[in-house]
Amino acid sequence: MKRIRKAVFPVAGLGTRFLPATKAQPKEMLPIVDRPLIQYAVEEAVEAGITEMVFITGRNKRAIEDHFDTAYELESELERSGKHELLELVQSVIPKNINCIYIRQPAALGLGHAVLCARPAIGDEPFAVLLADDLMDAAPGYHSAIAQMTRLYQQEGASIIAVQNVAREFTRQYGIVSGTPYKDRMEKMHGIVEKPSPELAPSTLAVVGRYVLSNKIFSYLEKLGKGSGGEIQLTDGIAALLKDEAVYAYRCAATRYDCGSKLGYLKATVALGLKHAEVGQEFSTYIETLELFNDQAIGKNVFHFDPNKKSVLNIV
Ligand code: UTP
Repeated sequence: MKRIRKAVFPVAGLGTRFLPATKAQPKEMLPIVDRPLIQYAVEEAVEAGITEMVFITGRNKRAIEDHFDTAYELESELERSGKHELLELVQSVIPKNINCIYIRQPAALGLGHAVLCARPAIGDEPFAVLLADDLMDAAPGYHSAIAQMTRLYQQEGASIIAVQNVAREFTRQYGIVSGTPYKDRMEKMHGIVEKPSPELAPSTLAVVGRYVLSNKIFSYLEKLGKGSGGEIQLTDGIAALLKDEAVYAYRCAATRYDCGSKLGYLKATVALGLKHAEVGQEFSTYIETLELFNDQAIGKNVFHFDPNKKSVLNIV
């Protein structure tokens, strides 16, 4: 079984849900506490032993290339002023053995098209796909979401698609899979449809932004026309692939934050802020003092906060 050495990061989307913040900067460079979204995704891939990072970029995405490149002026300034810790931080954004490749998607024709653009860099190997705006926070004691999936690929020798259960009313926002239970956290997929209405959705298992794909996907993507929303959809490529070979849906042991949406982004900021080594403790104390957490202050409409677990539990 071929080891997964390469990962594709489609970052050519327009990020319209985050305008005007994304007018002149990529959505993937929005920070959660102190690291941009794209860095979280790359770190996930590094943890899975992936060494070739293929970014599918578009207009206004230069900042991503700069982020993973050497910053000569900044580094020599930090060196000159003796700020060695910061220098180390800047230099460790990406390990030295990692190779970054940038391919331009000429127009945002859809996620399926973006993945197809990676073909020259992938060759004939299986590969991972990570959508940086889905931030995956691995459950305690587990490897990163994509590392969990590359391991399953090694075991099963088949494509693995990350899914999570969503409320039926939200199926219209996702690719939805149908399948039969296979192993722990896994289904053998029978079908996949893009953004079905709640009445037509075959299940409530929604695709989230992590995939480990057999190389055969390219031969289907290149034949695809426009699908849902007038875009070339990765979902349609996977639907064709699973008629030919086994594909498994996997519920990652991780919390997924949809950082392409404002609410998901805020939730990720709070969750990762509370866990952050430098500011977590103080942030947690601050949150406890907020009027919002005082039941009596605003009646029923409150958050319940458990300081021991350091997480916001629910909204009543
Ligand atoms: P999204 O639809 O979530 O991202 O695509 P978007 O289009 O940037 O955002 P909105 O909906 O306008 O707010 C999922 C992922 O696929 C990439 C995006 O960059 C994102 O990471 N993508 C999408 C491409 O690289 N190319 C495309 O043509 C479309």
